[in-house]
Amino acid sequence: MTASLVTRDDRDGVAVLTIDNPPVNALGQAVRRQLLAAVQDIEADSTIEVVVLTGQGRYFVGGADIREFDHQPEEPHLPDVIDAIDRSSKPWIAAVNGSAIGGGAELALGCHYRVLLAGATISLPETQLGIIPGAGGTQRLPRLIGVEAAVDVVTSGRSIKSHEAIALGLVDHIATAGFLGEVLAFAAERLDAALPVRSSMRPVSDPGPGIWAEIEKRIAKTSSGNRAPAMAMEAIREGVRSGFAVGSAHERDAFLRLRQSPEAAALRHLFFAERSARRSRKTVDEARKSLGSIGVVGGGTMGSGIAAALAIAGLPVILAETNVDRLDDAMSRVGAVLASAAKREAIDAEKAKERLARVSGAVSVAAMADCNLVIEAVFEDLDLKKSVFSALAGHCKPDAILATNTSYLNPEEIVEGLPGADRFIALHFFSPAHVMKLLEVIPLENSSGQTLTSCLDLAGVLGKVAILCGNMEGFIGNRMLRRYRAGAERLLLDGYTPAEVDGAMRSFGFKMGPFEAQDLSGLDIAFRANQLMRNLGRPQPMSLADRLASKGRFGQKSRAGWYDYEDGSRTPLASADVAELIRSQRSAAAGRTIGDVVEFLLSEMVDEGEKLLASKVAARASDIDLVQVHGFGFPRTKGGPMHHATSRGRPD
Ligand code: NAI
Repeated sequence: MTASLVTRDDRDGVAVLTIDNPPVNALGQAVRRQLLAAVQDIEADSTIEVVVLTGQGRYFVGGADIREFDHQPEEPHLPDVIDAIDRSSKPWIAAVNGSAIGGGAELALGCHYRVLLAGATISLPETQLGIIPGAGGTQRLPRLIGVEAAVDVVTSGRSIKSHEAIALGLVDHIATAGFLGEVLAFAAERLDAALPVRSSMRPVSDPGPGIWAEIEKRIAKTSSGNRAPAMAMEAIREGVRSGFAVGSAHERDAFLRLRQSPEAAALRHLFFAERSARRSRKTVDEARKSLGSIGVVGGGTMGSGIAAALAIAGLPVILAETNVDRLDDAMSRVGAVLASAAKREAIDAEKAKERLARVSGAVSVAAMADCNLVIEAVFEDLDLKKSVFSALAGHCKPDAILATNTSYLNPEEIVEGLPGADRFIALHFFSPAHVMKLLEVIPLENSSGQTLTSCLDLAGVLGKVAILCGNMEGFIGNRMLRRYRAGAERLLLDGYTPAEVDGAMRSFGFKMGPFEAQDLSGLDIAFRANQLMRNLGRPQPMSLADRLASKGRFGQKSRAGWYDYEDGSRTPLASADVAELIRSQRSAAAGRTIGDVVEFLLSEMVDEGEKLLASKVAARASDIDLVQVHGFGFPRTKGGPMHHATSRGRPD
């Protein structure tokens, strides 16, 4: 016997249907079947005049069961269930008690009224998963809130909160306290009333070719390799021009095609990978409160970026530098990041000012005595870092968490012999720290569970994806990067040019190829890191990039790197000097023995990934994918190198 996933409770002519399918009331096949049966029963039941549809718990409906997407769709299909509600002779009221996501939002749109609990949200995030709403969302939404608002909501996947929902005309009533009571009162008023115009029958006006062209341009600019937003817009346009029935058929067809696509499989993979990565259990507010004020030691590239990220996230910061002049420079860097975030409207200008005021400066770590967590980002120098940690151990509370942002040093050596071994950890941020979503978290031998939990809380407040890594030089990201860059140099020695390699990786979906990316970030960074390691007695091969950097070719900043740059221009130009260097290093036998640039570089990454898994530096292949997507610009629609490799050979 199947469990009852849709319960019914009749109250004076009102049937209250509750979807009860924990954890998110997903619309799996059994729920769809029971819901359709309920529609038919209620249609035939003369004692019922109005229907209230709601969800059990914190969700109205969290969406389709996206695990079903890997299989053929099974009847009854969601559009048929929603159409049955739409056509019902009795008014259906969606009582949206919590998040109505994807298919859940479409279900609410198919009802004749919507009552939203204050604080609940409605969203259609399908395009972010490489598909489009497939149960009338692209057809009903524009008929309820207009074309431009509907395109924005559908193509961005963003959530609509109660105040916006009422302003847009998406919902009829916002309920506050005593939700069900208010809904029943709303229902009672409709007992004898005529049905409103169904959302599928409402008129919708075409905004005209100029607006459509603007929308198309905007989507093309922002959807990087994901076809779904453009196809969602197309479905909306078809419905506006040819009517609900034609539009719905178009929508369904596009939905079914995209659902099978490799991009959708890749985006689904990342969705599950993100959900299975370790996360804070606290809400952002709870986590922010428990973290309190954070210390950052060193205000160079990383320290100032980290301080800015903390400030933007609403955390008070104490930033320490070696002297007043350096501190002034560091504080201006933090100010510049906040100002540019305000300019991009990533943060409200007033808020940016208020947040900057909560960043205080110091020239000694003694100022960090009350911090619960301190992040060290001074020069990559073992003795210096050891002295900073020793000072921190002397000044900070005994339970304050002390984290290093080192890239290549062994964090265990940095903290060796210091008291309170359970509170040390490494937190590896990526540059620019206020932009990159990746945070590598490296628990040390003696780090406590509490230390790790607090770092996950921090990642949650910063909106970063935390990936746990084993402690091995380069962790996950830099090991993969080194292999990728070495592979790219091998291609040059095999006869390819930098422009050919960059072009191939761009056509795969990277925004930049490996050489352009190095020119942007600066060849001096890796060069200095390699020199440091050589100085530490750890021999490093002299790469082509190191040879260029040793001649002052640092990239765009010196107008010469892998490419030449004219004054004031970022356009890469082929460099005769670089071509000569490559020729001089090439063996006589070189001649493009490697057949395909993309295949070769991806297989290098996958091979390195396998090694990271074997040595337990990475716990899961999906963690490697998340590192690549969130830290190194691997195209989301390809799902990361490990997913891309394993999905090969699967039918599209
Ligand atoms: P940086 O050279 O830009 O900044 C280092 C800052 O530390 C300087 O402003 C310096 O004045 C300050 N400093 C030195 N000794 C100090 C002390 N005793 N007290 C307070 N401040 C002190 O270096 P960057 O690039 O910011 O790197 C910092 C750390 O972050 C390094 O360990 C590096 O390996 C790591 N890292 C760097 C990344 C990058 O892309 N630059 C990425 C991830 C980690």
